[in-house]
Amino acid sequence: MKYTEIMLRENSLSDKHIIVTGGGSGLGKSMSEVLLKLGAKVLICSRNEEKLKQAVQDLKSATGGQVSYAVCDVRSYEDTQKALDEAVNRFGYVNGLINNAAGNFVSPTERLSAHAFDVIIDIVLKGTKNMTLAAGKYWINNGIKPVSVVNIVTTYAFTGSGYVVPSASAKAGVLAMTRSLAAEWAKYGMRFNAVAPGPFPTKGAWERLLPGELKNKFDPAQRVPLKRVGEHIELANLVSYLISDYSAYINGEVITIDGGEWIYNAGQFNAFDQITPEQWDLLAQLIKSKKKK
Ligand code: HXC
Ligand code: NAP
Repeated sequence: MKYTEIMLRENSLSDKHIIVTGGGSGLGKSMSEVLLKLGAKVLICSRNEEKLKQAVQDLKSATGGQVSYAVCDVRSYEDTQKALDEAVNRFGYVNGLINNAAGNFVSPTERLSAHAFDVIIDIVLKGTKNMTLAAGKYWINNGIKPVSVVNIVTTYAFTGSGYVVPSASAKAGVLAMTRSLAAEWAKYGMRFNAVAPGPFPTKGAWERLLPGELKNKFDPAQRVPLKRVGEHIELANLVSYLISDYSAYINGEVITIDGGEWIYNAGQFNAFDQITPEQWDLLAQLIKSKKKK
């Protein structure tokens, strides 16, 4: 067994028809590939049609699966409704949603215009609200169940983080929405969970969040106690499980997949793993000698 293999067995998702927002690139595309390999039908949606067309072609040739796209800016409720209609028309029904589309940039907060702050909130929080509300009404009105929704957040949704304040605020809102709807809409047969990834290299995130020299200066792998970044398949396996009926009793949860990054950087003494055994010997002697006095 390798952690770079698909975890679920073949056809585990053959009755799943899933919308993946932001599925044309990065993690959304990688998740879509694994969902398709497991037999799901997938509609990817985002703003750039050329990118979507290329992604559909790539995904078809990688998986032979049934995948299509809808051009959709998640900031528009009308667009999300159209994407949902397109998926229902194509596949007959929709019973899974992965809210993955996001916008982000790094900046001292005082340098942001009010509009720049709004743009991130609109994509991340309101975008998730738009897609979820459109789909939720459809599921309730049509009695479709079971349904699984997975919201992609970040670990700073619960820790907070400077320099990405609009994103942190919006992701925290998405997490609250996840837990709230997990409680409210369970009666309709819907489950809501969130996944909080640590660093997973993608062009979209890396170029915006670690531009230029920052990549070397703040090597993300060094912040992780396992000393590596995530492989896309690891996230895709987790999300496949959460979308599948194998996770039928998991609802309202946020699952972190970050190699221990946030815990490592939160624990006050964790950086002591830089201390060598010889230094520990000296320190032990020092502590003992202080006790004697
Ligand atoms: C400050 C900025 C800025 C920056 C844009 N703006 N970039 N302000 N620093 N780096 C300001 C602009 O000046 C403008 O404000 C406002 O933001 C909107 O900019 P537009 O370019 O007009 O917006 P738009 O075309 O809608 O593009 C949205 C975007 C863009 C978010 C700015 O980056 C984008 O499309 N991103 C999508 C993909 C993405 O971000 N992926 C990363 C996800 S990673 P004014 O006032 O001048 O009009 C992630 C978590 C990672 O989310 C966690 C890692 C561990
Ligand atoms: P990415 O490649 O930039 O993906 C973002 C996707 O969202 C793109 O396909 C983009 O497509 C789409 N999108 C952006 N604005 C949109 C809008 N208004 N309407 C519709 N679609 C929109 O970044 P990624 O790294 O794969 O990130 C995917 C998710 O993982 C995000 O939720 C991110 O916050 C989360 N995450 C990533 C990391 C990481 O290390 N990579 C860590 C933690 C969390 P268009 O631009 O064509 O619209």
